[in-house]
Amino acid sequence: MSDIDAVILVGGKGTRLRPLTLSAPKPMLPIAGVPFLTHLLSRIRAAGIEHVILGTSYRAEVFSEYFGDGSAFGLSIDYVVETEPLGTGGGIRHVAPYLHGDTALVFNGDVLSGVDLRELLARHEENSADVTLYLTRVADPRAFGCVPTRPDGRVTAFLEKQANPVTDQINAGAYVFRRPVLEAIPAGRPVSVERETFPALLAAGARVFGHIDSSYWRDLGTPADFVAGSADLVRGIAPSAALPGPVGRRLILPGAVVDADATVSGGSTIGAGARVEAGAVVDGAVLFDGAVVLAGAVVRRSIIGRDAVIGSGSVIQDAVIGDRVRIGAANELLHGARVWPDASIPDGALRFSAPDA
Ligand code: GDD
Ligand code: MG
Repeated sequence: MSDIDAVILVGGKGTRLRPLTLSAPKPMLPIAGVPFLTHLLSRIRAAGIEHVILGTSYRAEVFSEYFGDGSAFGLSIDYVVETEPLGTGGGIRHVAPYLHGDTALVFNGDVLSGVDLRELLARHEENSADVTLYLTRVADPRAFGCVPTRPDGRVTAFLEKQANPVTDQINAGAYVFRRPVLEAIPAGRPVSVERETFPALLAAGARVFGHIDSSYWRDLGTPADFVAGSADLVRGIAPSAALPGPVGRRLILPGAVVDADATVSGGSTIGAGARVEAGAVVDGAVLFDGAVVLAGAVVRRSIIGRDAVIGSGSVIQDAVIGDRVRIGAANELLHGARVWPDASIPDGALRFSAPDA
């Protein structure tokens, strides 16, 4: 594995997870108790890979402040910063000078998955492939890259985000590149690996193969997927070696206080120093550090930002509440409601359901 570098693309702005991604990039949001990237790094390390290069752009400093040189995680981490975002392909090309080996294992930085990385690499070798794409099947492929293959695994097309998908087999967001193929991506300008590089490689007859896998897979780009992925990690449905506690119905971090008469379930995470009062219900939700759910409030499938307060009897469902928001008593925020950081909502002021939900 010393010949293999892991490259993680973490330069996106995470717009679909605003307002939480205003202060932290998506891969650094806490999920099941640790920044998401920790779970991915633990799987990379478990596969025996030690060198990781993070392709950063948006809020680049947040990554290096947390992970440092990587030694605390058994890794050696390099940070490469795009001053202007170069897109997925441009980001991959940009890290080329930092590669140590002849094979690069590239990841989107927001995918939670149980794929066996050694198997993916072995498949790449067996096929003497130029590029091997990790593929999975999903119920609704429209938000993803569709990747049809021949029975021998050879990729026949790469069709990013189609309104009428030709297959339910999608790009699961990890690739193995032979180094010369990676270095042939044009440098110094934005490139989409999905819309430009893969179609061009296929048109040129390159050996592009798929590794179709059916283990756990989820892209964490939307609030609904973020809370579902978090609950799956807590309950052990999604594999991770980085869970800071035992697998179970809920994860309560040190310094959190949950009243004996509160109900916390569905794989919820209660952040450090957070508080859940008597009669409150927290189900399948993520409470960031210091968040407070007052007596009798109900929080389902929602993300509650740092130090935010949910007032007594309020109902928060499928919503995103920013850091330090104060929601008074007896409010109702449902179906995709989002509240920006530091907002203050008086008692009984809101019955809100997002129009596009
Ligand atoms: N370095 C860098 N620079 N990284 C970037 C940039 C950039 O300009 N733009 C996006 N990224 C990173 C994001 O941070 C994320 O980790 C990854 O690239 C993918 O971007 P998303 O914005 O999450 O893409 P997506 O989810 O819509 O679609 C992608 O992932 C799907 C699987 O989850 C595509 O690769 C699809 O084909 C794929 O099916
Ligand atoms: Mg994504």
